[in-house]
Amino acid sequence: MLRLDKFLCEMKVGTRSQVKKELKQGFVSVNGTVVVKPEHKVDVETDTVTYKGRELLYKKYVYYMLNKPAGVVSATRDNACTTVNDLLKATGYEDLFPVGRLDKDTEGLLLMTNDGELAHRLLSPKKQVAKVYEVGLKESLSAEDIRRLEEGVDIGEEKPTLPAKVEILPENHIFLTITEGKFHQVKRMMKAVGNETVSLRRTAMGSLKLDGRLAPGDYRELTEEETDALRGDSGRTDEERRKGGSR
Ligand code: URA
Repeated sequence: MLRLDKFLCEMKVGTRSQVKKELKQGFVSVNGTVVVKPEHKVDVETDTVTYKGRELLYKKYVYYMLNKPAGVVSATRDNACTTVNDLLKATGYEDLFPVGRLDKDTEGLLLMTNDGELAHRLLSPKKQVAKVYEVGLKESLSAEDIRRLEEGVDIGEEKPTLPAKVEILPENHIFLTITEGKFHQVKRMMKAVGNETVSLRRTAMGSLKLDGRLAPGDYRELTEEETDALRGDSGRTDEERRKGGSR
């Protein structure tokens, strides 16, 4: 059960004090009856709450796809730089965080959510969720470089990188698919084969593909199909899903 004013705040009707005023004016109904008390308790699973006649469908978690531009840091807060959270300020959600990090100069797909459990699962090394990067290189890759990258290279960690997939694109670009997320991994892998990354853009994470209509800096909410597929990627079993409700 949730206080009605908290529910309305979470549904972005307004701030706590704005919500109080809206309630006073009789704009909010619960199961067809006008409710003016902010402390009224609602059951988010079964109660129908309307605001100015429009039903408010409760969403505990939200998921956004951001096309991160270069020059923005993948942090929730930073004293000097624009952060990915600054870019999503207009959503009104202050509890979003990026699922993983992209370097400041990396562009592309970044999932932003307030669902810590899904984020944790997607980032778990055990799940080996595939990430696809479009990499611009200083020099072209030789057949031997490709073989080494696909087999696993030494980037100074305890173990070599897990097998990757390389797809050659025109003009010294490649698609690189990796299933790990080590610090600066792509740049270090390119360095390991004597090359240099000159541009980096993530295009996919698991089943989630960067929407080509999003210009750098733009974002949109994920569709239900996209969030369902991501849950599949994160390895949540049907049993867990049943226990955890609709998430
Ligand atoms: N690998 C990198 O080197 N940088 C990124 O931002 C992501 C993957």
